[in-house]
Amino acid sequence: MEEFFGANNYIISNRKIAESCPSNIALIKYWGKYENQIPANPSISYTLNHCKTNTEIEFIADDQFSVTTFLAGKSEVKFAEKIEKYFQNIEQYLPWILKGKYIIRTENTFPHSSGIASSASGFGAIAKCLMSLDAAFSGKINDEFSLKKASFLARLGSGSACRSLYKGLVVWGETKEVSGSSDFFAVRYPNEEIHADFRNFNDWVLLIHEGEKSVSSTVGHGLMNTNPYAERRFQEAHENFASLKTILKNGDMKSFIMMVEHEALTLHAMMMMSEPAFILMKTGTLAVINKIWEFRKNTHLPLFFTLDAGANVHLLFPTTKDEEKIQAFIIKELMPHTQNNGVVKDVMQF
Ligand code: DP6
Repeated sequence: MEEFFGANNYIISNRKIAESCPSNIALIKYWGKYENQIPANPSISYTLNHCKTNTEIEFIADDQFSVTTFLAGKSEVKFAEKIEKYFQNIEQYLPWILKGKYIIRTENTFPHSSGIASSASGFGAIAKCLMSLDAAFSGKINDEFSLKKASFLARLGSGSACRSLYKGLVVWGETKEVSGSSDFFAVRYPNEEIHADFRNFNDWVLLIHEGEKSVSSTVGHGLMNTNPYAERRFQEAHENFASLKTILKNGDMKSFIMMVEHEALTLHAMMMMSEPAFILMKTGTLAVINKIWEFRKNTHLPLFFTLDAGANVHLLFPTTKDEEKIQAFIIKELMPHTQNNGVVKDVMQF
């Protein structure tokens, strides 16, 4: 990845930079990776609008490298250690990065317990800050290439983060179905290839279970190394891309729903078939899924779900005239399955 190695003529100085980055929700899931954050299969996600991380980085030029972090105003030593390692790891791409002290203040616009990927928005925001510092120190303008490099750097922090740098539908991982797609950074799925019905979606996240996840995504990805079904799964993700391309173009909502739900259930099935096995759904997750299926059978309205590696349910439904009926159903029938009446309402619009 020659193009990502930095220039040598930097003039560093004290700076304060602030950036914001949204989270994303995958439709075809990234689950399984190789060394250096190379994904085992291509993935595609919607970038969210409201669920964001806002990050401010204060850089003080110094011979001593150190990182201090504050999460929502609270000092976080573990997070600082993680960022220190991350910065050391990406020095080859940003030669100035270890030449200073950092004070990083970061906050999410969504609850920590929501299972909304804060590592995606978090590393996305940090990578954007780093590229702003890079532009300030090198005198170059922040352009298309900076965004691509931010996506490249975000990936090295957390794989799914690289998709958060772009709006709309975003692809990460090389697939012959999307020109320009890469294992190293994300690219936008071309808007003109997306039927209007897929450009305006609600994503309501039902907080079925709040609190720590039972398994981190790093551990989860690792379990794919020994999962006997892994190779078939990776192949299926490629096949799903080929189908998705036609679905997106034609506006085939029924097939879209089938594929998105299948992807979510496959992710969970993989965890159930891992050694050790993990069941990430809770009783409420299953109850909600069954109610969604029942609702669709009775009304033919396009309400469907996807899941991350946790118990909370992302409810997807287009922003159409039927959305009020769908929302009324969610509030009456699905909300009772949440732990504390918790729901995070977001929307994907582009
Ligand atoms: C289930 O990006 O959190 O959300 O690269 O180890 O940081 P790391 O993993 P992470 O994995 C996300 C997995 C997923 C599916 C997806 O977003 O594609």
